[in-house]
Amino acid sequence: MINTNYQKLPGSYLFSTIAKKVKEYQEKHPEKEIVRLGIGDVTQPIAPTILTAMHHAVDEMGKAETFRGYAPDLGYDFLRETIAKQDYKARGCEIEADEIFISDGAKSDSGNIQEIFAETIRIAVCDPVYPVYVDSNVMAGRCGTYDEKRGMWSDVIYMPCTRENSFIPAFPQETPDVIYLCLPNNPTGTTVPKTVLQDWVDYANKQGAVIIYDAAYEAYITESGVAHSIYECEGARECAIEIRSFSKNAGFTGVRLGFTVIPKELKRDGVSLHGLWARRHGTKFNGAPYIIQRAGEAVYTVDGQREIKEQIAYYMRNAATIKEGLSDAGYEVFGGVNAPYIWLKTPDQMTSWEFFDRLLEKAAVVGTPGSGFGPSGEGYFRLTAFGSYENTLKALERIRTTNL
Ligand code: MLT
Repeated sequence: MINTNYQKLPGSYLFSTIAKKVKEYQEKHPEKEIVRLGIGDVTQPIAPTILTAMHHAVDEMGKAETFRGYAPDLGYDFLRETIAKQDYKARGCEIEADEIFISDGAKSDSGNIQEIFAETIRIAVCDPVYPVYVDSNVMAGRCGTYDEKRGMWSDVIYMPCTRENSFIPAFPQETPDVIYLCLPNNPTGTTVPKTVLQDWVDYANKQGAVIIYDAAYEAYITESGVAHSIYECEGARECAIEIRSFSKNAGFTGVRLGFTVIPKELKRDGVSLHGLWARRHGTKFNGAPYIIQRAGEAVYTVDGQREIKEQIAYYMRNAATIKEGLSDAGYEVFGGVNAPYIWLKTPDQMTSWEFFDRLLEKAAVVGTPGSGFGPSGEGYFRLTAFGSYENTLKALERIRTTNL
């Protein structure tokens, strides 16, 4: 009767487990002021230009002449065209508006995209990895059995990313059908030069694999020589799907907006994946709200761009502050240059969860245990730069001065 694949999943979703632990701690210690640098949730308010556009759209909904019902299921043209022009054509990528599917966010898209592939495909993921990619494939019955001791699924191809390989995955020994890449990376906060991304595109085309490229943190790239889109690489139109989010660049974690790009050339078994996703989207999704899509459009205006760049700079100042502060305190720290995540080695051989518990108990600071993202994350810990500057300083001071 039920989908028993769900029962194979160990525990609850990573960020739900953390939220539960933090709630319990707060109930036990109501006097403690907890600093939360766990889930990558933004704290800066929606920028004024975007807010004005939302207000305007709300007013339109209140008048018969401008009221809108269902949005077009693949997204309003005004938003799809703006994205095609500013995120892609401006960077020399040939992406057309009708290859862009507007959604309610990158989490849904990255969880749902596996539906257009056969149940028998082998997926390859970086290890550590954003848990949604693996969990959604487990739910679909694709990952085999879970080895609790190793923290691994029998049928998933893992590509370890550790300090030994600078967090850059090597091509797997086994041949995958679908490869998930998230760059800049969540959780390690690192990224790869464009030349390395090109190698992945070449590899995928050679193997006939599809890359699902999660570019949710693209706006945080500060270094040159790093691709903002996989379509900057030659041949990517034949092998790559790109997923983007408005959550981290424009503070839409609670507003919800994202999109997926599937070029028309991308075919497998002679079938266009664009057509399959359009069919899926049309059947299961009724479009992101008009008000929110207008907000998304405003992100691309001159003022919108200036305002969101200020927010990104604000978060990146947090990242630099954490990185420098922890490294001065003797921690081994990675990431934080092209991404809003700091990835640190736990001190004294502590496991990731031991470090999580001590940090919460002794310093009332919340982070994310690296092992929650996969076995190669064991012994690492993630802090986000999305807190307020004041809280970031507070957390840093507590970590530095507490005897953990
Ligand atoms: C994270 O903390 O990894 C992200 O915020 C989760 C998400 O974007 O869904």
